[in-house]
Amino acid sequence: MPRCAVMVEPVPRADVSQRESLSREQALPHLRLGVLISGSGTNLQAIIEACASGRLPAAEIALVVSNVASAAGLQRALQHRLPALYLPWREPEESEQRLAALLELFRVDLVVLAGWMRILSAGFLERFPRRVINLHPALLPDDPSANVHIASDGSAIPAFRGLHAIRQALEAGVKVTGSTVHYVTPAVDAGPVLCRAEVPVLEGDSEETLHERVKAVEHELIIEAIARWRARELLGQP
Ligand code: GRF
Repeated sequence: MPRCAVMVEPVPRADVSQRESLSREQALPHLRLGVLISGSGTNLQAIIEACASGRLPAAEIALVVSNVASAAGLQRALQHRLPALYLPWREPEESEQRLAALLELFRVDLVVLAGWMRILSAGFLERFPRRVINLHPALLPDDPSANVHIASDGSAIPAFRGLHAIRQALEAGVKVTGSTVHYVTPAVDAGPVLCRAEVPVLEGDSEETLHERVKAVEHELIIEAIARWRARELLGQP
């Protein structure tokens, strides 16, 4: 016999998790993202879906900018009725001024470089301190001045910075590569790391097959990085 006769109605699990996620969402500062692209925009697509599905709660894409008019990513943005602009990059200084003005006009909190193929100057970055992050298809070390990252299997992987990072990994014959999201600093692909993920290199991999697997991982990683950035920079969490 139960000692207490009072029946407490159990709260259905769905209600509990719904309430928890609602209160978590209410506690989150709203995030307006500016996504800069130059190409296919599959990572942009992952961000669009994460905002829509609530995987990235209280977040929206405020602006998409491409420096390439024919970038497929621009079409993805337009299909989702997102503000999307082509910004020609003929004269870098002037283009950066325009870009900064646009990001401010659209009240962007965080700038995400998702396949953006232009280097941003120190002057530009000073206008958005700790507010620009980049996705790079290689394993970058925690120490920005280091040239090697120690992978989880203990192997030392050279930091493949700059262009053609996937090709560099294949040419170096490494067994593992991956992707890193880092803060953007004036030194190319060398800012403090937000998060990274490993991807094994398989026998017979071509640049295309390997990059495709790296991108599949990136589509998760970029969402994790945005969430981590908000927790760290807007909520003061470690
Ligand atoms: C990604 O692999 C990213 O790491 C690199 O450019 C690629 C962009 O791919 N910087 P997508 O345009 O998002 O498909």
